[in-house]
Amino acid sequence: MRSSLTLLAAIAFVVAVADPTDIIRTFGDKKVQAFNHLVVDKNTGRVYIGAVNRLYQLSPDLDLVVSEETGPKEDSEDCSVLECNNAQNKKLTDNVNKALVIDYTTTRLIACGSLFQGICSVRNLQNISDGTQEIREAVVANNATASTVAFIAPGPPNPPVSQVMYVGVTFTLGSPYRSEVPAVSSRSLDKDRMFAIAQTAVTTGTRMFVNSLARERYPITYVYGFSSDGFSYFLTTQMRDTTSGLYISKLVRVCHDDENYYSYTEIPIDCTSDGRKYNLVQAAYVGKAGSDLASDLGITAQDDVLFAVFSESDPVTANKPSNFSALCVYSLKAIRRKFMQNIKHCFSGNGQRGLDFISPSHPCVLTVSPIRHYFL
Ligand SMILES: *[C@@H]1O[C@H](CO)[C@@H](O)[C@H](O)[C@H]1NC(C)=O
Ligand SMILES: *[C@@H]1O[C@H](CO)[C@@H](O)[C@H](O)[C@H]1NC(C)=O
Ligand SMILES: *[C@@H]1O[C@H](CO)[C@@H](O)[C@H](O)[C@H]1NC(C)=O
Repeated sequence: MRSSLTLLAAIAFVVAVADPTDIIRTFGDKKVQAFNHLVVDKNTGRVYIGAVNRLYQLSPDLDLVVSEETGPKEDSEDCSVLECNNAQNKKLTDNVNKALVIDYTTTRLIACGSLFQGICSVRNLQNISDGTQEIREAVVANNATASTVAFIAPGPPNPPVSQVMYVGVTFTLGSPYRSEVPAVSSRSLDKDRMFAIAQTAVTTGTRMFVNSLARERYPITYVYGFSSDGFSYFLTTQMRDTTSGLYISKLVRVCHDDENYYSYTEIPIDCTSDGRKYNLVQAAYVGKAGSDLASDLGITAQDDVLFAVFSESDPVTANKPSNFSALCVYSLKAIRRKFMQNIKHCFSGNGQRGLDFISPSHPCVLTVSPIRHYFL
């Protein structure tokens, strides 16, 4: 499995995975290297695909309605988000889709690509080529492989009424402008302040930077993001500490009504069994438990559950997955309890919030463990 959601350059609606005769419809484009993201409008059933140099709008039956070319274009890491006239090493560069999100409040599609320091466009859901607005603000990762996770959830100035876009981005080297892009931020969806940091003050605001020494040597990979019960969460993989070379998975959390990210907290998330540590989270989904699982977990069928697939590290590369994987299931109730314990533990003088790379590291870590394992 790959660490970011990457689809092959073809999709198919299937009834059963095993038998090719069960495929009802397909859509593909041989001219395109890869499909990166897919979203389905829950109201209309329309399908949107973000690909390398293309965006597609399909009908619910996977008929192509609009295909929009987004690249390649002349670009360079040395170009600022606003202009690119004087950069020496400009070259024709692919535009890799890094985020694709439906804003149901304004009925718009948000599509972000790797070109021009990672900018986003806002598009009409009825026709993604019509009346497109491109906003010159660096939001997502600016190369083909660095991770980005984006989702919409309540946030400042007035949650739960106001919605913002939460974004987690891996720091990339090689550009003078990337130090201004936060690792985690909440971005405004107001039409006058589109994608600006939702709330800012002189040194604080709805953004979190990793300190300048750590971000180059200890990259954070953002795998999945979700919102549940007043908080936004990111699932990440990162080095356990600055010396061991071991990788772990961590859950990052911020409170929706926090204008300054003072509530920003990380805890390790564990998927271990029979002596195997499935340390690298690969993909996840938050949903509701079925009635059997809910009763096993001691929760109701309305409570949120996190399903996450993990791999054991490849012994050689450490940050790449090996062949061994497991699915772990966590109740959000248990996750909230673990964050609470960790915060109490920290505030009772046992270290700080567990922000190894953001503030100095302290031995202040309780790990959330799954309630169910399924070995794959
Ligand atoms: C979508 O909008 C573009 C630009 O206005 C237009 O050329 C195209 O015909 C429209 N497509 C559909 C299916 O409405
Ligand atoms: C993207 O940036 C990261 C971090 O600087 C780097 O490790 C990676 O090789 C880059 N990927 C590409 C395709 O340039
Ligand atoms: C993983 O699977 C591949 C393909 O089945 C195999 O070639 C490789 O040796 C396996 N690696 C390990 C560490 O088992």
